[in-house]
Amino acid sequence: MTTRYRVEYALKSHRRDQLIEWIKGLLAVPFVLHSQPTAVYQEHSVKLVAVAADTHQRYAEILRDVQNLIIDHIEHENNQAAGKSKLKLLVPTVGSFFTALPLEDAFKYQDQLRFISRRRFVAPSFNDVRLILNTAQLLGLVRSSEVDLVTFDGDVTLYDDGACLTEDNPVISRILRLLQQGRKVGIVTAAGYTEAPKYYLRLRGLLDAMHDSTTLTDSQKNGLIVMGGESNFLFRFDQTSPARLTWVPRKEWILDEMRAWQENDIGQLLDIAESSLRACVANLNLAADVLRKDRAVGVYPLEGCKMHREQLEETVLVVQNTVERSPIGTRLPFCAFNGGNDVFVDIGDKSWGVRACQRYFGGIDPSKTLHVGDQFLSAGANDFKARLASTTAWIASPAETVQLLDELEELQQEPRSV
Ligand code: IMP
Ligand code: MG
Repeated sequence: MTTRYRVEYALKSHRRDQLIEWIKGLLAVPFVLHSQPTAVYQEHSVKLVAVAADTHQRYAEILRDVQNLIIDHIEHENNQAAGKSKLKLLVPTVGSFFTALPLEDAFKYQDQLRFISRRRFVAPSFNDVRLILNTAQLLGLVRSSEVDLVTFDGDVTLYDDGACLTEDNPVISRILRLLQQGRKVGIVTAAGYTEAPKYYLRLRGLLDAMHDSTTLTDSQKNGLIVMGGESNFLFRFDQTSPARLTWVPRKEWILDEMRAWQENDIGQLLDIAESSLRACVANLNLAADVLRKDRAVGVYPLEGCKMHREQLEETVLVVQNTVERSPIGTRLPFCAFNGGNDVFVDIGDKSWGVRACQRYFGGIDPSKTLHVGDQFLSAGANDFKARLASTTAWIASPAETVQLLDELEELQQEPRSV
């Protein structure tokens, strides 16, 4: 492996989402051809409005073509010809879609909010495409069936990185609304604690609001669970417990495949990860400590210190590579990720976490499940794996999560057309 290749592969390709980059590239063509910068004196001219309308139409047509390629990809997968679709040829890393994505309508919706086609200097961006995909996913869900389960990541998705869900958080009323509508909610977080009070400290605002709610029925309240350590510790809401949560014994909820995860193997995998993390601390001279837990091992910065991005990325890629290459890493699923100011390796990953939530609630289909998270890059990110188990929305801040839930509410009102 040449150094150049390593840089391209390890750092660049994993830090880009291939589908988003490809769509961005398609939209760049009409941007260049139609949205050229116009002289300032034409600023309010009729011509400018016509150019924007033309650009809008071209963007919409491209997104309709992509929407059709996705339908074709889904058909190939249903006909046991996965890997042979045109979309797979064009974007080799593309995975499975659990619903169609009405991208043309989603674009029209986002263009009204972001005025993408009015821009003459800034081409459709990563964030434009990410938000169009999120809207398309919501439309795909509400038009094809229902959203029965919404799972949320914690840090960055529900609250700021490392913070807690406090009573003033606007996401609380939106989660209560989901529960009131009879939907199930799972918080699927990497934060791995074995005791309920620790989760109560992190999620107190939401749990207290549920406890105090007189409008939610008991069965609606039972619609909330917390899955910690990606897929390792399950707690259910409990109105009578001081911590508002009760631990659910593992044997009551684990998936059949998870029964094969031997304690011995878990210990061995964590040993390998731990020694690799310790080597990184020494090699990169990190001002950090190693923390070994029941089902995880991580490095976190010493009091008052911060690790910089390159240190975090190097550490996560080293530990992922080391564990992947070990025999145990091929037998047991694990997840190495960059938590923003720490690096953790957890046993299992969020695909198992989301699937366990689906099973806990009686077997909810992936096409009726939405996972909302902030970490969807293919290396060093832990929400990425949820794509194997459910539809997903990629948000960039807690405020975007609130917007997304309001958008879901709004889109549900539209008459079903597909
Ligand atoms: P998430 O965004 O909700 O998945 O939370 C990720 C953060 O949880 C990490 O960045 C860590 O700071 C924290 N954390 C606490 N305990 C664990 C653990 O056992 N495994 C992984 N992350 C943990
Ligand atoms: Mg997160």
